[in-house]
Amino acid sequence: MFYGLNKFIKQLLPKQLFYRGLLIVAIPIIILQVTISVVFFDSLWIKTNVGMTRALVGEIKTFLDSYNVANANKNFVENTFEEHSEIDVTFFRDEQFSEIMREKWYSPIDRSLRRELKSKNLIYWFDTSKFKKKVILKIKNEFGYFEFIIPRERLTSTSVRIFALWITLPAILIVAIAIIFLKNQTRPIKKLAEASKKFGRGERIDEFVPSGASEIRQAGYEFEKMRKRILRHLNQRSEMLSGISHDLRTPLTRMKLQLALIKDKTLINRFSSDIDEMEKMLNEYLQFSSESNKEQNEIFEFNKFLKNIIEKFNNEMIKFNSGDELYFNGRRLSLQRSLNNLIENSLKFSNKIEITFQKLKGSILINIEDDGPGIPIEERENVFKPFYKIDKSRSEKSASVGLGLSIASDIIRSHGGRIELSESKFGGLKVVISLPF
Ligand SMILES: Nc1ncnc2c1ncn2[C@@H]1O[C@H](COP(=O)(O)OP(=O)(O)OP(=O)(O)O)[C@@H](O)[C@H]1O
Ligand SMILES: [Mg+2]
Repeated sequence: MFYGLNKFIKQLLPKQLFYRGLLIVAIPIIILQVTISVVFFDSLWIKTNVGMTRALVGEIKTFLDSYNVANANKNFVENTFEEHSEIDVTFFRDEQFSEIMREKWYSPIDRSLRRELKSKNLIYWFDTSKFKKKVILKIKNEFGYFEFIIPRERLTSTSVRIFALWITLPAILIVAIAIIFLKNQTRPIKKLAEASKKFGRGERIDEFVPSGASEIRQAGYEFEKMRKRILRHLNQRSEMLSGISHDLRTPLTRMKLQLALIKDKTLINRFSSDIDEMEKMLNEYLQFSSESNKEQNEIFEFNKFLKNIIEKFNNEMIKFNSGDELYFNGRRLSLQRSLNNLIENSLKFSNKIEITFQKLKGSILINIEDDGPGIPIEERENVFKPFYKIDKSRSEKSASVGLGLSIASDIIRSHGGRIELSESKFGGLKVVISLPF
């Protein structure tokens, strides 16, 4: 049960750090505000109002009683009352209240006034909302009625509106300041996440400059260190391999020249085909490493890109199912090389090829399916190894090196993507490539 509740709360909570931070600031402020308002409204404001109303009604009642005494000096009583109470009194002889009283049920002033007047057994009529600063009160008398015009401040203390304004304005100010601070605090985290995402996808990023609070700065600093180490490692590896490949070409050329000195024709043929193969391997690798090092990211439309690649093969066996328009940021030539390798493989082994492009949420999916012999499960991992060929007889048709799949997967992975092999619906090989965008 608690697990369910937990999950529910988690779903309700905002996902972004900025909004979570904002909630942490805003919720206590709102709770504080509501508490202060309730306490103020109930214990201070309403209680004070009730006390003031009671005093006022008492005063009026005293006036009425003095006025009604049989031999009282009515003028004197009225004048004295008016003079000391700031209330205007008018007596309407032989008249009745003509208007209907409209009491506002939600107004605490009306409520306490009614309660006090009732407790003194008076027959009354009042209007608290007609004038802004005055309240009109009429009370029935034996011979007519009195009309009292009472200053509003005799009934209620400070205005609630001013209080509400005073309490909400600082709260809004605090939240506004919090928003500015939080934005500044979350920006460096966003920047770091963005840089990691780009680096993971193999995009080239400029030097990352850490900023923000010390923990975030530390994370950024460590990221930059890691990024440099990985780059150095990658460069070292490809530099070493291309160095070896390059250096091997000289002895190979020398061997070729020395072949001329051998008399045995069959031996010459065998040697020269081996030397050719070695040369091809080296050239292939050198070409790949020099291309992939230099290329910069660019933005291109993926359907068009795939269509172009396929058109270049000019082969009716290849069928293409295009997908939604998508602009991709990547190394175009490298990707082209990777797809070329895969299509070439399929062309080598099969008569029917289907390429499907799909745009998913956050990634793209490319399927290449053929009706060839496929690759047995136990070999699917091995074929990605450099210079690995399943068996000689298969690749005999055309000279092959065994680098195609390893280069293709290298390029896909360096874009942060994945490449997987499985069985196609035509019985051959299915290559599934997913690339994040
Ligand atoms: N579509 C396919 N159907 C069946 N087998 C395949 C297919 N693609 C690759 N293979 C097998 O996987 C092996 C490795 O492929 P890879 O592309 O790496 O090398 P290659 O094609 O032999 O040489 P290269 O591409 O360097 O000229 C191939 O030797 C082949 O046996
Ligand atoms: Mg190949």
